[in-house]
Amino acid sequence: MENYISISDIDDLQELIAEALQLKKDNTAANLGKGKTLGMLFFNPSLRTRLSTEKAAKLLGMDVMVMNADKDGWALEFEDGAIMNSDKAEHIKEAAAVLSQYCDIIAVRAFPGLKDREKDQAEIVMNSFRKYASVPVINLESATGHPLQGLTDAITIMELQQVKKPKVVLTWAPHPRALPQSVPNSFVEFMQNIDVEFIITNPEGYDLDPQIVKNTTVVHDQDTALKDADFVYVKNWSSFNDYGKILTEDKSWTFSGDKLELTNNAKVMHCLPVRRNVVINDEVLDSENAVVIHQANNRTFAAQAVLQRLLAPSP
Ligand code: CP
Repeated sequence: MENYISISDIDDLQELIAEALQLKKDNTAANLGKGKTLGMLFFNPSLRTRLSTEKAAKLLGMDVMVMNADKDGWALEFEDGAIMNSDKAEHIKEAAAVLSQYCDIIAVRAFPGLKDREKDQAEIVMNSFRKYASVPVINLESATGHPLQGLTDAITIMELQQVKKPKVVLTWAPHPRALPQSVPNSFVEFMQNIDVEFIITNPEGYDLDPQIVKNTTVVHDQDTALKDADFVYVKNWSSFNDYGKILTEDKSWTFSGDKLELTNNAKVMHCLPVRRNVVINDEVLDSENAVVIHQANNRTFAAQAVLQRLLAPSP
């Protein structure tokens, strides 16, 4: 593995999941990162990604440097050939090259603007780091994907599944803010690559990028979709078609105890943070069906498996 920007950087997903679960049982690579440094740059807030990735790196013996790049760093210019006579003080060419002198792996979080679909889809920040860094780059959630979360979710489902091919439903839920499609995009990509019966349910107007959804079934009636589900992944996202817009806050899509009743006693997942009684009701989050804390714990082992691959690439 040279970078971890998207699921396409994984050559054998089943093997990577098995490695993560092995690391969860027993930290088999405690010295692999000795003398190496992970540098993490956050252009947006984080709790889980920041701390689980730091913990993962330390479990491998790495040193970790973290920077709130949006607040503490120079404003970066990403455009080639820009005349930098305005507010941007440093070009990504120098920034990524300099960071590569201090770090053995660079990890970056940079959310989409949700105003210009083409611009967000170009993944300018992540791709610029990949282009100008001379060390591996990890995506800590970018404009269109959150592959560490997607890997975690696949690990969690494979760890907790009680039938050979569980039914997994990704359901949209309401939210007062316009949120990226990054988490659902990555969840879809990972579900398409493990052995599950997978469907997506969302209101009309909220279909995800067809290039990501591909042949996955999309149902616009949530109750129908939830029937007999073994896992329900609840998540809000803003419209892809009417890009970045909130089209509805329909409370009938909030994941409630009544919705849970429609399922096969499903395990309920969410990447967190979750707005209680807007996205998922208390009675679900406080029930034994909710596996969100277990899921958050698995963030560490997903990150550890990825770091391990980057530190010791296959011959
Ligand atoms: N799920 C997730 O990425 O959480 P943070 O935004 O807190 O990192």
